[in-house]
Amino acid sequence: SLPAKVTLVEVGPRDGLQNEKQPVPTATKIELVHRLQAAGLREIEVTSFVSPKWVPQMADNAEVMAGITRAPGVRYSVLTPNLKGWEAAALTRPDEIVVFGAASEAFSQKNINCSIAESIERFAPVVAAARAAGVKVRGAISCTVGCPYEGDIAPERVGLVARLMKEIGVQHVGVADTIGVGTPRKVQRALEAALAHYPLEEVSGHFHDTYGMAVGNVYAALELGIATFDTSVSGLGGCPYAKGATGNVATEDVVWLLHGLGIETGIDLDALSDAGGFIRAALGQGRDATASRVARAIGAN
Ligand code: HMG
Ligand code: MG
Repeated sequence: SLPAKVTLVEVGPRDGLQNEKQPVPTATKIELVHRLQAAGLREIEVTSFVSPKWVPQMADNAEVMAGITRAPGVRYSVLTPNLKGWEAAALTRPDEIVVFGAASEAFSQKNINCSIAESIERFAPVVAAARAAGVKVRGAISCTVGCPYEGDIAPERVGLVARLMKEIGVQHVGVADTIGVGTPRKVQRALEAALAHYPLEEVSGHFHDTYGMAVGNVYAALELGIATFDTSVSGLGGCPYAKGATGNVATEDVVWLLHGLGIETGIDLDALSDAGGFIRAALGQGRDATASRVARAIGAN
């Protein structure tokens, strides 16, 4: 049976905006977070503490974290690829951090400039420091179905990275279809590889929607009992190191799916769609720019 309740981790402010070419004002990012929490999101990935030379859009990470009025019960997470990132992030008191690796060697090199083995060595002290500070550590595994440089990725490679993350104390793994090439059975195989090392509650799905399969992949994950998904309001986003990949599955679309299935999310779809409309307008894009079919259908985009 499907889970009765699902947690959505809103990654719009981070994954959604990191690839925007034009600078997005810090105040806009803060307002987006405020609107998302007002819509009922209880987990928000706010920003990343990465090199501003690599990802200029996230250079205001500390300002965004400082500018947010935190709502009770909301968990705010940030990406930290190395100790330098953790040290800067720690000052901003995140509830959770994310170390991010890949099931593909080539993508690991392009995205974080090191091999998979080196990435684990870099993450280990970050994980230890965060856990000592009482901060939860999630791990993201990119390219768990396919890679823009290597093509198909076997589930065994996902299992290997999940095992390595488990060994260094990462508490949760997100199985990412970075370029959105996944289809339901392939995504299930990737998730099962992670489930060999982590319990159901500590595995999540992170599906980009390049080929329009992401909602189907969410359903396939629900069938396995997965109850946590990363989603992005208005379907914003993409990865700077995965050319052509589109945004994450739209939060609005997943909320529609879940509510239609009678699964609880705690999210107000109208307020959420308004948040999507707000950020598209702030990006100078029209009402039709939303990648959410649901937001377009209900007209609040
Ligand atoms: P590097 O060049 O190998 O690092 O980058 P380094 O340690 O050799 O340092 C080089 C320079 O970067 C130095 O500065 C460092 O101080 C600086 P310089 O001396 O040249 O002036 N530096 C930093 N500055 C700020 N914060 C830091 C930091 N670390 C080093 N944390 C690094 C390695 C990982 C930093 C780099 O490759 C990087 O920033 N990559 C960007 C990765 C990224 O943000 N990708 C997008 C997010 S992941 C994603 O979207 C996928 C996901 O959504 C799941 C999915 O869909 O697949 C999560
Ligand atoms: Mg992503």
